Amino acid sequence: MRTQLARIKKDIETLAQFNSTPGEGLTRLSYTMEYKQAQEYVIHEMKQAGLSVRIDPAGNTIGRWDGTEPDAAPVMSGSHLDSVPHGGIFDGISGVITALEAARVVSSEGMRFVRPIEVIVFVEEEGGGRFRSGLFGSRALAGKITRNMVREIVDARGISIAKAMEDFGLDPDKIEEAAMEPASIHAFIELHIEQGPVLDENNVPLGIVTAIFGIEEGTVTLSGVSGHAGAIPMALRHDPMTATANMIMGINQIAKSSGTKDAVGTVGLVQAYPGVINIIPDNVVFTYDVRDTDNDRHQRMLSEIKEMVARVAGEYGVKEDITVNLNSPAVRLNERVIAIMEDIAKEKGLSAQSIVSGAGHDAMVMPAISEHVNMIFARSKGGHSHRPDERTEFEDLQAGSELLLETITRLANE
Ligand code: HGY
Ligand code: MN
Ligand code: MN
Repeated sequence: MRTQLARIKKDIETLAQFNSTPGEGLTRLSYTMEYKQAQEYVIHEMKQAGLSVRIDPAGNTIGRWDGTEPDAAPVMSGSHLDSVPHGGIFDGISGVITALEAARVVSSEGMRFVRPIEVIVFVEEEGGGRFRSGLFGSRALAGKITRNMVREIVDARGISIAKAMEDFGLDPDKIEEAAMEPASIHAFIELHIEQGPVLDENNVPLGIVTAIFGIEEGTVTLSGVSGHAGAIPMALRHDPMTATANMIMGINQIAKSSGTKDAVGTVGLVQAYPGVINIIPDNVVFTYDVRDTDNDRHQRMLSEIKEMVARVAGEYGVKEDITVNLNSPAVRLNERVIAIMEDIAKEKGLSAQSIVSGAGHDAMVMPAISEHVNMIFARSKGGHSHRPDERTEFEDLQAGSELLLETITRLANE
């Protein structure tokens, strides 16, 4: 193996320290002090590896190793350093570290490819922890984030992404300058932990990803009539909590009856105001996350859900407002590069299987600016992720970095 297990292990364990909830899983939200510490560590390691480093207007971090043709479209690899609240230490970080490790081998062996190679750290991939606007850094690269959006997207305390960016030392008014032209990247490859049980159940360390589920995430706000829990007869109530309960079951039912096991629907957050035991809530906010591999079926499911929400709101005499926070269609990954990865895995004796990704990733945004987009999965022990006990063996990450290194090498020389 040309990559070094010890370096991968050191990187992961060092980054795990930059955490705002030590002992309760990893919480590292974008544009925070912990995020800055993690970013600075990776920048230091990039520079140690001889990469030139830039921070783009969104706060994405990009390390570059020039090729013999510096103007050629680069081969890019990377992932994210931000986490969900109380998550694990491998989600996203694995893709940053294995891309960094591949670059270390290239530079330490003095290799010069035709194309430049770039290592990227996307900011605000998760979205779930604060702004509910995931894939933010990659969408900025794809030109999908506007100056208005960064001022409109706010966290629970009303602080906008723009304010968080300013406090982090960025100029949010320059966000649109992060946009890259279509096909300005030759190939983007993201290594990520699987976050599900398939590889572990099959006892296979690596996955070669063929497709990524489409995602829509949104927030539903139901406004009812608050009142005394004891003095208002049931027949006179406009209770947003009961309407919410019906809608949550409706989302669950629509996903289950969509005719495919690929369709999934999740309500991860319910918040009632004022949230007091003996007050009928004034309003209730809940989130939805609905995914599928087939875009038409996904859109049909979403329309059915929105019709159901309007119908149930009418039945309960409450007012509904739906905000779509994120909609990213399903993508099929590049077949030619999948075949290259399969050949490399065979040549190197790396055990790998093809797999689809139910989890969303920055890679799903990258077809807008990259000619080839592909992913490699590393096995998640027990299939656990977005939890403190998220675990991937360092040996599996090293195997994945070997596959990543050789794939980058071939694509950077074409
Ligand atoms: O939600 C996802 O699929 C990813 O972890 N952001
Ligand atoms: Mn991730
Ligand atoms: Mn995640």
